[in-house]
Amino acid sequence: MELTRIHCFVLVLILHGTGTWSDDGLLVLDYYAETCPLAQEIVQHSVEIAVLKDPRMAASLLRLHFHDCFVMGCDASVLLDSFGDMVSEKEAGPNLGSLRGFEVIDKIKYNLEKACPYTVSCADILAMAARDAVSLRGGPTWEVLLGRRDSLKASFDGANHFIPAPNSSLETLIANFDHQGLDVEDLVALSGSHTFGKARCLSFRQRIYDENFQEQGDRYERNTMFRRILRSICPQSGRDHALAPLDFMTSARFDNHYFNNILQGKGLLPSDNVLVVQDHGGEIRRQVWAYASNPQLFYASFAKSMVKMGSINVLVGDEGQIRKNCRFVNT
Ligand code: HEM
Ligand SMILES: *[C@@H]1O[C@H](CO)[C@@H](O)[C@H](O)[C@H]1NC(C)=O
Repeated sequence: MELTRIHCFVLVLILHGTGTWSDDGLLVLDYYAETCPLAQEIVQHSVEIAVLKDPRMAASLLRLHFHDCFVMGCDASVLLDSFGDMVSEKEAGPNLGSLRGFEVIDKIKYNLEKACPYTVSCADILAMAARDAVSLRGGPTWEVLLGRRDSLKASFDGANHFIPAPNSSLETLIANFDHQGLDVEDLVALSGSHTFGKARCLSFRQRIYDENFQEQGDRYERNTMFRRILRSICPQSGRDHALAPLDFMTSARFDNHYFNNILQGKGLLPSDNVLVVQDHGGEIRRQVWAYASNPQLFYASFAKSMVKMGSINVLVGDEGQIRKNCRFVNT
């Protein structure tokens, strides 16, 4: 009797083994199958409505998941508001006045709490919303592994330290991703996120005015028209929060134009530009060329890297909690 049960268990493991479990076995695809079967539909529907109202919201939701995962792991720490002694990650340099989409997450959580209270974590909402946002703007889709739990605290210092700055050198970007268990291929694929959404003047001013700032590459030097347009949006001082599209060609769509842009020296952020100008080995350049000429290859890599990013330092089992309100730890 005992033996048969073990056999059944082993069989289930084997059947599920290939597809359902993540590499580290912590997250699974069907986590809410019994406890909240409509979870994915509820998230998708809410994201659809939000993106219909504000197309840029798709980009903002993707970035929210990224900024969550790079600080203490994908644990929804980014969603916590300041409370008592704890300073919110929202106040940190890379996030303040820039990160958006919190109201959309609130709305999704509200809808989920109505359907299945205390069941779906805010961290899982971020992962599902990022996937739905990308696919709604024409990008790839992928299966999101689930079962993350929500942190009990935020890390303001972590947000300042671990989220890469737009004026980082290539070495710094590589080290930053490596710290999260992501390799150079992940860095290049995930940077393709800058195929939609917008950036503030603050984030790219140095690139368009400071001639000695980076090895700009001669392609960029010749793009005086591109630079003139950016300078008209963003004067040498002031208008810090004026916006420019990260992908000047197709800023509303998730496609592979980002890679064509950076090959022409027309990436907006310095961190986009360094991928092609500081890559002395040529490895990154080959990958950029491949993605620029083959969108399906980019999509496959992007999906793979998103799953990897979504598994960074997740809380599982009885770690953390399932928050009732994504902005606050349960009392
Ligand atoms: C490689 C290092 C990266 C750097 C230095 C970086 C930096 C930035 C900066 C400075 C902005 C503009 C913020 C502003 O001015 O308000 C931005 C926007 C954005 N980033 Fe990144 N990023 C990086 C990687 C990523 C990754 C890995 C993702 C997603 C997986 C991502 C997704 C986005 C999106 C979608 C936007 C547009 C957001 C919106 O329009 O609301 N970025 N990024
Ligand atoms: C990057 O930008 C920050 C803030 O704007 C500035 O303090 C720093 O000196 C810059 N770093 C480089 C390498 O230019």
